[in-house]
Amino acid sequence: EYEKFWLAASLLLIVGIIATVTYGAVGVGVSMIDDKGGTIDPKAVDQHPKFGNPGVYKTGANEYDVYVVAKQFVYQPGTNEPIVVPANSTLTFHVTSADVIHGFEVVGTNANTMVIPGQIATFTVEVSGPREYGILCNEYCGAGHHGMEGTLKVV
Ligand code: CUA
Repeated sequence: EYEKFWLAASLLLIVGIIATVTYGAVGVGVSMIDDKGGTIDPKAVDQHPKFGNPGVYKTGANEYDVYVVAKQFVYQPGTNEPIVVPANSTLTFHVTSADVIHGFEVVGTNANTMVIPGQIATFTVEVSGPREYGILCNEYCGAGHHGMEGTLKVV
């Protein structure tokens, strides 16, 4: 019985987290809305249903969730493989850190956020494209900080 209770409780929590995600940015090119995306245990990031297998998840006709894990000194995905999304879509990014504070800037747009371990940075970006964007870490995160970068490919 307790198991059922906790299952229901955690499902409620998940629904609550999803409900806090706001969609809003509208416009040509790229815009961004900041949002408090919730919390996460940085040591358990790889056990999270989405951050454990980060990447692009389709959620609607032209809507995608993009889960990215930042850690010294890569974005997963982004650095060793580009984040690939279709043109003319709405992207809801969920970014968290598995170690220290990082940054996540989509260069040439106003998408620019801190990535704090324990927290999920959530923001919405509209892309037209096709084109490529660089991703940069703007928070000093250690010896490899200056080389911490990635690619967002709108195809
Ligand atoms: Cu990551 Cu600087």
